[in-house]
Amino acid sequence: MGSNILFLNGPNLNLLGQREQSQYGSITYEDLKKKCEEKCKELDLKVEFTQSNVEGEMVSIIQSANEKFDGIIINAAAFTHTSIAIRDALEIFKKKKIEVHISNIFKREEFRQKSLISDVVNGGIFGLGSEGYILAIIAMHKLLKK
Ligand code: DQA
Repeated sequence: MGSNILFLNGPNLNLLGQREQSQYGSITYEDLKKKCEEKCKELDLKVEFTQSNVEGEMVSIIQSANEKFDGIIINAAAFTHTSIAIRDALEIFKKKKIEVHISNIFKREEFRQKSLISDVVNGGIFGLGSEGYILAIIAMHKLLKK
């Protein structure tokens, strides 16, 4: 088995399928998880696909990722726009990091147009729907090969 990656989803992403479908599409969290696990398997990546509604829990997950994972793909959801604690934890994690958003945060309300984490990750994908998660996995796979 190849590299080991952590997929960390923030608040309310467990409710995909029930949330505004105009922004997030109709895919459920469970189906998205399955799609990502299949893509990782195809690329010989090990993945832990997780979700939390709790900021401090996300910080602890990122802190402990250092020992176990080669990279993190994160959709910090609403905490993207507010959490210095998640930003700081990501900054401490020195391996590969990709930020992903299902919607185009720059085309939405002003409070969503700022990400506190974009400048501490390798790169990001936004506005491409749930397909962005698959693209993030492909990008992570390439980053880890370098
Ligand atoms: C989101 C965008 C955030 O602004 C929002 O709070 C989310 C989801 C996205 O994936 O488009 O929960 O991160």
